[in-house]
Amino acid sequence: MKRPSRRSFIQKITAGALGTVISSDLLRAEKSENIFEGMKRNKIFMPNDQIQLALIGAGGMGFADANTAITTPGVKLVAACDLYDGRLVAAKNKYGKDIFTTRDYRELLLRKDIDAVIVATPDHWHKDISVAAMNAGKAVYCEKPMTHDVSEGSAVVEAQNRNKVVFQVGSQGLSSLGNEKARELLAAGAIGQLNYAEGFWARNSPEGAWQYSIPADASEKTVDWKMFLNQYPDRPFDAKRFFRWRCYKDYGTGVSGDLFVHLFSSLHFITNSRGPQKIMAMGGLRYWKDGREVPDLLMGMFDYAETPEHPAFNLSLRVNFIDGTADSTYLRLVGSEGSMNVEWDKVTLIRNKAYAANDDPLMATKLNKNKDDSPRKLILPPDTTVYTAEEGYKGAHYDHFTNFFTAIRNKSSVVEDAVFGYRAAAPALLCNDSYYADKAVKWDPINLKVVK
Ligand SMILES: NC(=O)c1ccc[n+]([C@@H]2O[C@H](COP(=O)([O-])OP(=O)(O)OC[C@H]3O[C@@H](n4cnc5c(N)ncnc54)[C@H](O)[C@@H]3O)[C@@H](O)[C@H]2O)c1
Repeated sequence: MKRPSRRSFIQKITAGALGTVISSDLLRAEKSENIFEGMKRNKIFMPNDQIQLALIGAGGMGFADANTAITTPGVKLVAACDLYDGRLVAAKNKYGKDIFTTRDYRELLLRKDIDAVIVATPDHWHKDISVAAMNAGKAVYCEKPMTHDVSEGSAVVEAQNRNKVVFQVGSQGLSSLGNEKARELLAAGAIGQLNYAEGFWARNSPEGAWQYSIPADASEKTVDWKMFLNQYPDRPFDAKRFFRWRCYKDYGTGVSGDLFVHLFSSLHFITNSRGPQKIMAMGGLRYWKDGREVPDLLMGMFDYAETPEHPAFNLSLRVNFIDGTADSTYLRLVGSEGSMNVEWDKVTLIRNKAYAANDDPLMATKLNKNKDDSPRKLILPPDTTVYTAEEGYKGAHYDHFTNFFTAIRNKSSVVEDAVFGYRAAAPALLCNDSYYADKAVKWDPINLKVVK
């Protein structure tokens, strides 16, 4: 991606439509770099083209993933794995009595009738199951964050490269129309030179703060507790740890691994960045003192060095689970001439109205003078342009699964592969390291290494 130039963006606007607002059609008409090559919609698939899919981790997101996956043409869910029996019953009820179910993902990976798996377990199982699935020749859609600890990333990258299978991480936002448009606008110079970005997640409810309901029949009989623990310390069955795993360091990755990671994925996609070189986080456990081990308010600061793809810039992220404004998410990129608020189905571009006359060739030639020789007032372009997805847009999640299945069929690549996923997860996971060690952490995003 070439660095944007202010002149090129203004020329595109003015060359396209004199006297009209900056229309979304103008930029839509440009031939954008087609990084979604091969993405085809509404194709009819023959039965032997069908991709047979299995779900590993049939909880909240697992069901959401499977539900979206089977709405893409030519995909069938044939198996489900979970450690809690209630979820296996729910999977049969939803996807058919004939689907294969098991508590042990290894049984599922042995099956030849499965082409691809969704890994939607808690974070502490992502690496092990993804690597085993790739070694078994399956394509993998692994939920974010790609790993539980920064040190685990290279094992996933290595398994992807060695097995030459499609591996995609589940930060679905980057496949959205909104992220694509933001990437296009930034490259076209719409906000001038990027110098700052910010993002946040605001929540204010028990569910939002991970206090999920615990089924009445939860016990060691209905749950495979020993399997759940993976390599982490043995302890007596604890339903809270099992169903509210995000609150505990052994299984979850805190608010940064859960939520910052989405913003990194989108930001890195939009800017073509590989990631920050310095990470620092602070925050605290302010309100949800329910035995959890992780903060409910966290702020991260990130330093991105200049690269051929983008100028140096800073990023600030925060998650607040006791935020009175509640239920909002935000990603904003700020440049020398404007800013963009980026949503999955909408981009709001705010541009500085103060043009220099020679920036705009059309205006420059129309600089009429008044009789008293004072410059005539200009007609200025609007300062805010909102790009919204067309009605009927199926959304980021659908687009992300379409990209995944298209890559499997075409034996092509995906944007959010293991290397991309590692680069998005690492700064989020390193926020935890910075927070607990109370110091800044240095990261080498090119060579994927913590700098000691
Ligand atoms: N992309 C998104 O927008 C998004 C949204 C929510 C969650 N997620 C991610 O999805 C994953 C799951 O989150 P969730 O909210 O669905 O959690 P959840 O607790 O609702 O579901 C996790 C399920 O995994 C099962 N499980 C645990 N260990 C297992 C194992 N070894 N084998 C098979 N099943 C196992 C549990 O029994 C549970 O049913 C997390 O990594 C989370 O970060 C992504």
